[in-house]
Amino acid sequence: MVNHFFPLLLVSLLGLAGCDNKSPAYTEGNSHNSTPAPSSPQRWYTQEMVTQGGPLFQAHCAVCHQPDASGTANWREPLPNGKYPPPPLNGTAHTWHHPLASLRRTIKTGGIPLGGYMPAFGNTLSDKEIDNLLAWIQSHWSDEIYLIWEGRNRKASQR
Ligand code: HEC
Repeated sequence: MVNHFFPLLLVSLLGLAGCDNKSPAYTEGNSHNSTPAPSSPQRWYTQEMVTQGGPLFQAHCAVCHQPDASGTANWREPLPNGKYPPPPLNGTAHTWHHPLASLRRTIKTGGIPLGGYMPAFGNTLSDKEIDNLLAWIQSHWSDEIYLIWEGRNRKASQR
């Protein structure tokens, strides 16, 4: 449980760092100011990719991960057969721990080689379709979760 405080701390540190971007002239009461919150992170995917990914998710993934990507509430509890149920992909479970390359690999090779039962999609879906799926999945993540993921992803790609 202690574990769960760590991301929260990170979020607040990141939040503080984000303040540097705010112009000192930023005024709260300006009704002409309709730009989104200045700390919203720039995401790696486009809205077009999210739009393309939605129907793919419903066709190939929703049967296990639920149409809204909420997965299984008790995703940490093994099933009677010792395997784990489909986790949520909406940012509430572990998915944000994995850099982009691992997420792509999971979808391509599935969970069977690792003792799980998610099927492999490498033969059914193109790389582009897999990226569109990940765009749709990540569009469910809050800015806080996305920023933490992005930091991990950056570190992983520097290795
Ligand atoms: C037959 C059920 C099933 C289907 C269909 C399925 N998954 Fe999964 N998925 C799982 C299970 C179960 C896991 C946990 C690992 C395992 O046991 O294989 C998982 C894990 C994952 C993970 C890793 C999550 C994490 O937090 O580590 C991702 C990402 C993922 N699935 C994406 C997808 C996508 C995208 C699709 C559709 C293209 C899909 N899954 C289709 C059952 C499924």
